Amino acid sequence: MKNRNITRRKAIATVSAGALGAITVAPFNSFVFSNSKILAIHGGEKVRQTSWPNWPVWDKSAENDVVKMLRSGRWWRGSGEHVAEFERDYANLMGAKRCLATASGTTALLVATHVLGVDAGDEVLVSPFTFIATYNVIFMNKALPVFVDTDPETFLINPDKIEERINERTSAILPVHIYGLPVDMDRVNAVAKKHDLKVIEDACQAWLGEYKGKKLGTLGDLGCFSFQNSKNLPTGEGGAIVGNNDDLMDRCHSFHNCGRPFGSVEKTSDYPLRGSNRRMQQMQAIMLLSQMKRIKDDADLRLDNAKYLDKKLVEIPGIVPYKLVTEDARSAYHLYPIRFISEKFGNVSRDKFVEAMVAEGIPCSDGYGRQNHDGLMEEALKSKGYKRLFSQQRLKQWREENYYLPGNDQLVSEAVIFYQSMLLGTKSDMDDIVNAITKIYENRKSLV
Ligand SMILES: Cc1ncc(COP(=O)(O)O)c(C=O)c1O
Repeated sequence: MKNRNITRRKAIATVSAGALGAITVAPFNSFVFSNSKILAIHGGEKVRQTSWPNWPVWDKSAENDVVKMLRSGRWWRGSGEHVAEFERDYANLMGAKRCLATASGTTALLVATHVLGVDAGDEVLVSPFTFIATYNVIFMNKALPVFVDTDPETFLINPDKIEERINERTSAILPVHIYGLPVDMDRVNAVAKKHDLKVIEDACQAWLGEYKGKKLGTLGDLGCFSFQNSKNLPTGEGGAIVGNNDDLMDRCHSFHNCGRPFGSVEKTSDYPLRGSNRRMQQMQAIMLLSQMKRIKDDADLRLDNAKYLDKKLVEIPGIVPYKLVTEDARSAYHLYPIRFISEKFGNVSRDKFVEAMVAEGIPCSDGYGRQNHDGLMEEALKSKGYKRLFSQQRLKQWREENYYLPGNDQLVSEAVIFYQSMLLGTKSDMDDIVNAITKIYENRKSLV
C-alpha cells in the first residue's frame, strides 16, 4: 500500500505491453481466443504484445521559447511574461475569471485553504479516497481532516454523509474530483451554504471535467489543479488556483508571493499579509502553454474511448464501471476506474486479477489504500500541536469515527484503475482491455 501514487506515476511513464492482433471484440459470451485456455500469468500467449501510447508527449515547437527564455536569464515570474500568459489562457480554458499559477498542486491547495481561512484548530471535511497531498494540506494548516465516507459507486465523497460530520470547528469542505470524476457540487455547495463553510475543490486530477455545463474547479470558492508529470496537463511540477472573486484571488496572489501587496491587498507596509513563496517558474509556464494545445483533443479522445469501454465492460460479470453523479457530467479521466467484484468473478481476488491483467499486457493497478489508517494520522494526532489544539475527548471521538469508513473500505478493496494515456489509444486498443478481462473471466477457475 505504500508509495501507491509514485508507483502509479512510474507505471504511467512506462506503460508498454502487447496484443494478439487477431482478437476482435464480440458481444459477451462469444469471444474467440486463439490461446484462450492458458492465461499469460500461467505461461500462455499475452492478449497484447505491443506498447501503449507514451506519456508525457513533448512538443518540439516549444523549444525556441525555452531556449530564448533560458538565454535571457529571465527565469522567474517576476521578470518574464510566460506565467502571466499561462494564467490568462488557463482562466479562459476553465471559464473562470482568474487563475493563479503555483509551483505545484499541493502549493495551490495550501494557498487556497489559507486564504479561505482554514486555521489552526479548525476541522475540514474531506474525502478519504484521494492522493495523500489532500490530507497533508489540511495538516499543514494545523487543522483536522475529518473524513466523509466514500460512495463506492461514484468513488467520491458521499453527499448524504457530509452534514453529520459538521461541528462548530468545521470551517471548510474539500471535495476531491478523484480520477477526474465530478463530485455532486450542487449538494456539497448546498450544505456549505447552510453551515457557512468554504468550499475548496481539489481538481488536481480534473482538467476539463464538467458538472452541469461548468468546468470542475470553478464550482466552489476556489479550485486547485496539479500539472505534475503524470497529469493530463503536465509540466513536471506545477499547479494553479482558479476563482471568480477578485478579492480572494488578489489575496491568493499576495500569499503566494511572500505576502507582498497585490491588487486589493494594499501596500500598508512592505508585507501587509503573512505569505510564502509558492510561485511558478517561467519554464513550467512555457511547457504548459505548449501542452495546452493538445488538451481539448486529448480529453475528447479519452471520453470517446471511455464511453466505448463503459458499454463493453458492463457486460462482463464482476466488472462495474464508475457511476457519474448526474448524466450532465463529464469526467476528465485522469484514470479510468472500475470496481472488481470478486464474488461475481469466481472468487478471484482483486490483486490476482490485476496481476493477471498486467501479465496479459494490460497495465493497471489497485487504487488508493486505507490511507485514513496510515501513519501520518497518529503522527499528527499525537504531536504537541494537535494535543494543544484539540481536546482529548475530540481526538478519541475522531479515532472512533474516522477509522471506520465502510464505503471507503469497500472501494479500497474493489478498485482497479487504468491509466489515462491508455485512453489515447485506438478502439482496437480498448478491445485489448476488454478481451483480456474476458479471457481472465473465462479462465477464472485457474486463478483460485
Ligand atoms: C487529488 C490530488 N490532490 C493533490 C495533488 C497534489 O498535486 P502535486 O503533486 O502537483 O503537488 C495531487 C497530485 O498527485 C492529486 O492527485
